[in-house]
Amino acid sequence: MLRDKARVTVNMNGPYTVYGNLPLNVKEIIRNSAGEASGWSVIRRYPNQRIYTLCRCGKSRSKPFCDGTHDKKGFDEAETASLKRYFEQAEIEEALGISLADVQSLCAASRFCHGAGGIWNLLEKSGDPKIRKIIVEEACNCASGRLVAIDKQSQKPIEPLLEKAISLVEDPIEGISGPIRLEGGVELVSHDGKQYETRNRITICRCGKSKNKPFCDSTHVHTRFKCKYKK
Ligand code: FES
Repeated sequence: MLRDKARVTVNMNGPYTVYGNLPLNVKEIIRNSAGEASGWSVIRRYPNQRIYTLCRCGKSRSKPFCDGTHDKKGFDEAETASLKRYFEQAEIEEALGISLADVQSLCAASRFCHGAGGIWNLLEKSGDPKIRKIIVEEACNCASGRLVAIDKQSQKPIEPLLEKAISLVEDPIEGISGPIRLEGGVELVSHDGKQYETRNRITICRCGKSKNKPFCDSTHVHTRFKCKYKK
């Protein structure tokens, strides 16, 4: 039945509707001893619901769920993102043993790529297998899948293993909340029924301010978006 298919739809002037009994959790970015973003930790799990609506204007008082506030605040919901596939848009940086694909417009500012001197600097030393491992870790942690490492030998993208789920990103290092993360290949459908590429990880805006809707474009960092979760 279509209503049970795992997917997220964008509603015109309204929230996201999540179908398919998808688990919902809050996931925070954790840091290493150097204070750099280094991994993920689930800090809250919501009871399963077959269908639910998530706020995408940033104004609901029942966050993360929609409470209808968007109707009163004149929320600008326009979807401006490209429907092109990731690898049609990506710039590819070639290095020894590895390549790095990058679609900058998808950046959700999770900053894993800043670790160990920065992923672009690490590419220059990628002849060293230990450095290659760090590059792959950083790219796989990238919240939005802006960055994807590609194995040079197989020419295959290297992706983290993710179960189908919806995660609400928290960034305690910056003291802010981030986007909604669709994990494990959850479909995303526009308000007029067009399908965005289904990917292992994507991040969609929940602060209401992205210029690349429905995707997050890091604007939440500048606006200091903070989600107060309803108990
Ligand atoms: S949540 Fe990132 S720009 Fe809105």
